[in-house]
Amino acid sequence: MTIEDVKLIELPKFTDPRGNLSFVEQLNHIPFEIKRTYWIYDVPGGESRGGHAFKKNEEFIVALSGAFDVVVDDGHNKMVFSLNRSYFGLYVPAGLWREMIDFSTNSLALEFGSEHYVKEDYIRDYKVFLELKNNGKI
Ligand code: TYD
Repeated sequence: MTIEDVKLIELPKFTDPRGNLSFVEQLNHIPFEIKRTYWIYDVPGGESRGGHAFKKNEEFIVALSGAFDVVVDDGHNKMVFSLNRSYFGLYVPAGLWREMIDFSTNSLALEFGSEHYVKEDYIRDYKVFLELKNNGKI
């Protein structure tokens, strides 16, 4: 996987004076079956989270409220995706280093995963990530 495989996906949006509505469907807008959903909230402004890679877990990240940047790194190239609209989602395949940075105060990040939470699926050491990547293990 490379950063070319990361996709910013525009979601359906029903604008309505009563309040807008968007939605996501698995195997449609989200290109995997969802096994897990979690969210990051009460974030102090300027914070960063999630500097790690997953061996197997694919992700779909939505800035439900506020804004933050997702930095994706395939060991050779890096790309920054600014998420600040609730009708866009970022698909991040497994095997990429990713970090979420510059959270705006009280932003809300919603994340869908293709796997249940498994501690061993995380790669938290960037050097280990590069070794696995360079050896074609991830
Ligand atoms: P983690 O993914 O490590 O967050 P970050 O990379 O931003 O530091 O999650 C923080 C803690 O939450 C971690 O110790 C384990 C727990 N956790 C779960 O139990 N289930 C989950 O689905 C997630 C995402 C985290």
